[in-house]
Amino acid sequence: MQNRLVKNFIKNPAWAGQHCQTKYYITIRKKTCQEAVNQGTIASMRTLILETPKRTGSEVTIVGWAQTIRKHGKIAFMDIYDRSGVVQVVATSADTVKSASELEQRTAVKIVGTVKKRGEKYVNNNIATGEIEIEAEQIEIIAKADVLPFDMGGKDLKLELPTLLDYRSLSLKHESVLMIFHIQAALADAFRNSAKQLDCTEIFVPTISSGATEGGSEVFPIDYYGHKAFLTQSPQLYKQIMVGVFERVFTIAKAYRAEPSVTTRHLSEATQMDVEMGFIEKFEELLDALEIVGTSMIRQISESHAHILKHFGVEEPLVPKKVPRLTLRDAQGIIKERTGRDLSKENDLNPEDEKEICQWAKEEHKSDFITITHFPVKKRAFYTMPDPKDPEYSLSYDLLFRGLEILSGSQRIHNYDQLITAMKKKGVDPDNFGMYLMAFKYGMPPEGGFSFGLERLTMKVLELKNVREASLFPRDMERIDERLSLSKKAG
Ligand code: AMO
Repeated sequence: MQNRLVKNFIKNPAWAGQHCQTKYYITIRKKTCQEAVNQGTIASMRTLILETPKRTGSEVTIVGWAQTIRKHGKIAFMDIYDRSGVVQVVATSADTVKSASELEQRTAVKIVGTVKKRGEKYVNNNIATGEIEIEAEQIEIIAKADVLPFDMGGKDLKLELPTLLDYRSLSLKHESVLMIFHIQAALADAFRNSAKQLDCTEIFVPTISSGATEGGSEVFPIDYYGHKAFLTQSPQLYKQIMVGVFERVFTIAKAYRAEPSVTTRHLSEATQMDVEMGFIEKFEELLDALEIVGTSMIRQISESHAHILKHFGVEEPLVPKKVPRLTLRDAQGIIKERTGRDLSKENDLNPEDEKEICQWAKEEHKSDFITITHFPVKKRAFYTMPDPKDPEYSLSYDLLFRGLEILSGSQRIHNYDQLITAMKKKGVDPDNFGMYLMAFKYGMPPEGGFSFGLERLTMKVLELKNVREASLFPRDMERIDERLSLSKKAG
């Protein structure tokens, strides 16, 4: 009985909709969907564009978006793309030419046609399907697109940044924009893989807290049911707490900074990729770990996404076997020798210094990376461990890549009393950090960690001019999706 019902159901899926209220039919429907997935029948309704060359000579159904439409008299060409790739479709019959010429770019379409080999001189070596084209028999609009506010057909989208962001839901569809986010996804993936290689467990942390994690005034206060709370400036406190639980952890989390100025490298909402490791024996273990994660991420994506690096015309990153390491003071000494600028009283590197020392690393060590260590205690957050050999300086570090800080971190103060003293010295009220401090009362081992800025990393891999280009929906002083000055709520 059940088998017959299942067979009938497969022949007539609409049935399920009418009867699926009963437990019996729900079971059948689930089973049928699962069978369909197992047997590949769902996938066979359409052929992914990248798979079409394998079906040369056969009829296929593809779905996707129209990238470009070119009409030449009685014939029309369309580039159609889906998540796997792009293919040329040619319309030759009166019906299909008419349908093609009615399409706007980015219309979602379903096309039934025959896969044909292209003549030798028409092969397009720039795309994976370049040896074939699909001769359309039927073109059906799945979802129409309005007339575009700008041309999306070219290789690059030549828009000023504000316009690019004003039309973000649309501009993200352009291939050169979406490639940025393929790189970003690959970087996050590579980070996860590398952190797992270090035996870290993934954790998910809150973004609402009762204290300001990194100190300073760059924090967004929020009204939390009438209580004062903050958006977290980093996953710092929670990843440290979790070292006392898992020993080694990693997380990819949002961080909120009320940046008071507009720069090309600051966002108000950034994505941090953090690692924290307990039972460390010495500071250098942390340096080794961050350099392993940093270099292996870049190595992985340079191999897997070489075509995107090529599209952006950027050089393959220089990844050395050993990343050069300098203390801040030594780096400043080198910069002085090269430029004459005396930085001996500065507690950090400014953007110009970061570029200069990266240039040195490139020339002297053939490296796009350099690690800078031992920043003055007064420049770093309260949880940073002072260097026992010279307590004015700290066991801290930044990793620079192609002229920009992409990571920072440190060994942490793990002793409860020392931590309370350090907090008070920095004007941080321990009473706002009860949950955090509790972790240090119950066996917190020596520990430390680091944090990569995902958008900055993406920006530098592709040599983008502004970090906003590397954020899907960037937030800054002037924008939450729409420009704040133009928003209806603006005062
Ligand atoms: P820090 O504040 O240096 O350290 O942040 C770590 C990394 O995150 C990125 N980043 C940003 N990217 C874009 N816009 C911003 N406003 C922004 N702020 C930070 C940078 C930076 O190197 N908790 C510590 C890390 C640690 O000690 O583990 C922290 O947040 O790439």
